[in-house]
This record gives sequence, C-alpha cells and structure tokens, in this order.
Amino acid sequence: MNVGIIGSGGREHAITFSLSKSKKIGKIFCIPGNAGTENIAKNIKVNINDFKKIEEIVKKNNIELLIIGPEKPLVDGIVDFFQNTNIKVFGPNKAASQLEGSKIFTKKICEKYKIPTAKFGIFQNIKESKNYLEKSNYPIVIKADGLASGKGVYINRNKDEAFKAINEIFNGKFGDAKNVLIEEFLDGEEMSFFIITDGNHIENFETAQDHKRVYEGDKGKNTGGMGAYSPSRLINEKLEKKIIEKIIKPTLFGLKNLEITYKGFLYAGLMIKNNEPYLIEYNVRMGDPECQTILPKLESDLLDIFLTCCDGSLKETKISWNNKKSLSIVLCSKGYPDEYKKNILIKNLEKIKQDQENLCFHAGTIKELDKIMSIGGRVLNFVCIADNFNEARKRAIDNINILNWDKGFYRKDIGYKVID
Ligand code: AMP
Ligand code: GLY
Repeated sequence: MNVGIIGSGGREHAITFSLSKSKKIGKIFCIPGNAGTENIAKNIKVNINDFKKIEEIVKKNNIELLIIGPEKPLVDGIVDFFQNTNIKVFGPNKAASQLEGSKIFTKKICEKYKIPTAKFGIFQNIKESKNYLEKSNYPIVIKADGLASGKGVYINRNKDEAFKAINEIFNGKFGDAKNVLIEEFLDGEEMSFFIITDGNHIENFETAQDHKRVYEGDKGKNTGGMGAYSPSRLINEKLEKKIIEKIIKPTLFGLKNLEITYKGFLYAGLMIKNNEPYLIEYNVRMGDPECQTILPKLESDLLDIFLTCCDGSLKETKISWNNKKSLSIVLCSKGYPDEYKKNILIKNLEKIKQDQENLCFHAGTIKELDKIMSIGGRVLNFVCIADNFNEARKRAIDNINILNWDKGFYRKDIGYKVID
C-alpha cells in the first residue's frame, strides 16, 4: 500500500521510519519531507496548505492512506476535504481539531464536563482584561485564542507583564484577536500523555516529558521542544486511570454530544500535582519531539494501527511497546528560537552509526546536490533507547559529538530529573 505523510519535521521522519518497517508498506511519499525522509521515501515539494495540489499528488501516486503530522492542515479541514473520496486520512476532522485550534472551545468543554483544568475567564477587549488583571493574584497566565505555534502563551509574574501581554495580543501580534483567555497559574510538573482513538475505542500511546525551555536548567524562552524522554517519570497506574476517566473520556463524550467524532492521535498536555492531573491544553497530533522519542519503542506495525484507526476497528489491533527508556536531544541552529542562519552545511552525518536503538531523525534539513543543509531552527533529533535514561543520554551526546556541527547547540541536561 502506498502511503503519504504530510509534514517536514522530526515527527514526520520518525513516522516515516516506523512505517518503513511495515511488511505491508509500498511506496512512502513525504509531502514535503526533509533530507532524512528522502533516504527512505520519496519527497514531494508542495505547500501543505494547498489541499487541491495534495489531492493531485495522491491520485498520481496511488496513495491510499494519508497521514497528517502537523496541526495546521487538520485545523484547516484536510480530513473533511478528502471525506467523500476513497482516500483514508489519518487524523481528526476540522470540528474535532478545534480542541487545538481554539483554546476557548476546549475550556468550554472542560467547564461543561467538569474536567480538571486551570480556572479561567474569557475577555473581549483591553479594558475588560485590564480590569480583571487589576484584581488578580500573580503569577497569572494569558493566552491568545487560536493557533500561535506555541507562542501565544504568556506567564506573567506581575501586573506590568500582564498588561504588556494584553496589549500585544489585542494589537495583533497573533492576528486579529477577538478573545483572550486569562487563567490561573498551575503549579506542578508537566507531562505529555498520548492516546489514539478510532471514535469508539481508546488506546494509550505512551507518555513523555518534554523540555520546552531553550537553556539548561529549564531556563530561557519557550521553544517547540529541546528534547524529551519516555516514559514520563510521573506516570503510574492510578494516575493513568484518572487521566483517562477524568480528562480523556469526558472530552470525547463532550465532542460526541456536539455530534463530533474524534479520530486520530490526541495529545493531552497535563500539569501533575500530587498525583492529580490538570489539563493545560490539547493538541490534535503527536508531539514533536515526543513522537521521535516514543515511536522507536513501538513493537507493533504502525501501518496496521493507522489503518484500523481509520476503519473504526482499532480494538482489533494490539499495540505493544518494549519496556526500555528512550531519550531524545534536539540539535538546534545557533540563535534559535530567535533569529538563526539558514542553509548551513551539515557534514559527518554518515559517521553516525544508526540502528534500531540509536537514531538520528532530521527536522529542519534539506538535501541539495548530495549536500545536507540546515533550513530550520530545530535541525536534528538524536534518539537513543537503553535500559536506563543515563545510558540513552550518553549515547545521544556521543553521536552529537561525532557530528561535531559547530553551528549548532543543544541541551546537555535533557532528562535531568530522571538522571542526576
Ligand atoms: P500551551 O501552549 O497552552 O501548552 O502553553 C505553553 C506552556 O505554557 C505549557 O507547556 C506550560 O509550560 C505553560 N502553561 C500554560 N498554561 C499554564 C498554566 N495555566 N499554568 C502554568 N503553566 C502553564
Ligand atoms: N513538544 C510540544 C509540542 O509538540 O507541542
């Protein structure tokens, strides 16, 4: 069976790699992919927001299953676009993708079904917001509604910071803002919790912890993720049950009541405090770099999982994992998450010995005449699996040293809470 994967990050390289191991796989097309996917699939350069163009590629290459990596095409309705065709598309439809596309939509579901989350208020203009902020306790969290690539969240230590955030949002920093969400600051430790569902059956898809801040010690600006480890140190049977019963199931039930069926991966970003889960946000896709960290532990056939999810027979597929520890480190271009240079040559990739437990997934890379160049802020992901996190991190760092890319930087302390 020929398969297409939409996206160009480390997440999509990891999905491509996993699918390439399936016995039933035919050709894999990455749209547009990166220099890493090019080694195991065919890359096709196309704007992923152009659904008509994607449809042409799908037809021309006999693609039967399309897997959507990033949130934007999902929120824009790519699943609905292919609805009345014979192409299977893995991911939630436009209505279901509001869980990520609109923080206010999600908060309203939380409110109605008593899902544990930060207390919140919704405000329509600067004046209302500031009146509320005058009387609030600090720190307080302010969020722009809508997709903002992880940048629409402000954690404010005092009123001055909060006023600045409100001004930025209503002055158009994230597009035409009609609403802001002001919410209680949750204290605790973050965890990424994943499930896959076909609309009826729910299967857990592992846990991870992601380091979002750019500098060691979890300092500096927020990024897309500098590294992750799986499983999360926080997960246990009791907590897992609470997450499913108090958060995941009521959400899917709430959607059903709106006549929305959720299919695909669902990623709950959680704050855990005293073994109690609180929902921070939903994402309607796998995490990045969590996906790269989790998938190498999968022992089942990923193509079977996607197909049974699309067909509504997920229950028949057993999803099994090895019980090792996985850790990923993201090698970034100097300057990220602010300005960074592009088109920098990356040498030595062939010197890195890769196997099922030592992997290098590409993200912001491109191949030009046999040369590999960086084109993004997050460039490569070094993922290692071992019996313990310490060994996994040691091997990932050894590989980064072998690459010896002097235009890059990375955090040496990924997983410090489970290692040091
Ligand atoms: P989000 O885009 O909603 O995931 O927010 C980005 C990051 O901001 C999260 O990963 C948390 O680290 C932090 N954050 C968001 N909401 C809250 C909250 N209510 N309390 C504490 N931290 C938060
Ligand atoms: N690692 C965070 C995200 O994928 O949103």
